[in-house]
Amino acid sequence: MEALARFPGSYWRDLFDSRVGRTAWPYGSGVWSKKEFVLPEIDSDHIVSLFEGNSNLFWAERLGREHLGGMTDLWVKHCGISHTGSFKDLGMTVLVSQVNRLRRAPLSRPINGVGCASTGDTSAALSAYCAAAGIPAIVFLPADRISLQQLIQPIANGATVLSLDTDFDGCMRLIREVTAELPIYLANSLNSLRLEGQKTAAIEILQQFDWQVPDWVIVPGGNLGNIYAFYKGFEMCRVLGLVDRVPRLVCAQAANANPLYRFYKSGWTDFQPLVADTTFASAIQIGDPVSVDRAVVALKATDGIVEEATEEELMDAMSLADRTGMFACPHTGVALAALFKLRDQRIIGPNDRTVVVSTAHGLKFTQSKIDYHDRNIKDMLCQYANPPINVKADFASVMDVLHNKLNGKI
Ligand SMILES: Cc1ncc(COP(=O)(O)O)c(C=O)c1O
Repeated sequence: MEALARFPGSYWRDLFDSRVGRTAWPYGSGVWSKKEFVLPEIDSDHIVSLFEGNSNLFWAERLGREHLGGMTDLWVKHCGISHTGSFKDLGMTVLVSQVNRLRRAPLSRPINGVGCASTGDTSAALSAYCAAAGIPAIVFLPADRISLQQLIQPIANGATVLSLDTDFDGCMRLIREVTAELPIYLANSLNSLRLEGQKTAAIEILQQFDWQVPDWVIVPGGNLGNIYAFYKGFEMCRVLGLVDRVPRLVCAQAANANPLYRFYKSGWTDFQPLVADTTFASAIQIGDPVSVDRAVVALKATDGIVEEATEEELMDAMSLADRTGMFACPHTGVALAALFKLRDQRIIGPNDRTVVVSTAHGLKFTQSKIDYHDRNIKDMLCQYANPPINVKADFASVMDVLHNKLNGKI
């Protein structure tokens, strides 16, 4: 930080702006365009990048206007529209680049591979970046708890996939034990290299707003590395004079996996890890988050809030977002449901500039959408379901249906 502070904030803003949309290696990547803030000493030849970052900041105009009491300045940061379909690419490019560099250095204990426990997205990102660099990847996945689209990614990328009969927390415990014994580098987000990359999403948001600071940023939280990464990115820009303040952060959890929410409600006095229940937001089905302490730092420093969303709330919020032109994942649904609550409570005002962080691509979680639109979820009304209409393939039947539809009868 001392070395970076030798230059004024305007220098960094201009430098980062000058790299947007260019292809000069490695600065075309949204992460490596901020290389000096991320991993300054790495040789560009050692970087493993798949052009991550530079994700769309979507003005959710209709969602805000029609469904959130006339919100005028609502944005969704689509971190999931990325190489492997989630924000995990942002951190994985940094971690795998550093491993790539270390594997070329003479080490007393060589690195034979990289491993992670995952709720699906981390393993997809790790496998893709390792495959690009020719580094063996080993992933521990909780059997039957991740989507098919997530599972196929590491398989296709040639990783060693261990499907374990436990939940994410069980996988995490095992991988920590295994990496203590074997020359496998641990890639989970307790590894700060991941957070260094993830924090660039915060810097990118500032940049996309011409270096104006939003009032609120809402992030879905599971293992709680990402909420801290956002804080780190914003705070770094404040300290180095790129901006003059930081936004208030909201961490949104599924009510079925809400240890941080409970901790917050206890006035930060009593943290209890728990066994997380099944949630459609399966990537945040985590009961014992490894970065809980970091999350508390982030939330305290930004006058932050923790909210929770039930299964029905998160699926409805996701489906409403879809109806206004998005194709959100259930985790984004958790963040949107938190926004609905904070708007109802008038904590977030109609003109507050608010960014909801979308963490994965909706196409990775299609089964939950199919079940919702089929109204095939127990005890859920599925009020925004839009099932397909089965029609006989003749002109009269099709016309009947369309007349009824246009007259609002169905
Ligand atoms: C899609 C998605 N959203 C949110 C999260 C939560 O991020 P974190 O574990 O850093 O809190 C994860 C990963 O765990 C994820 O894969």
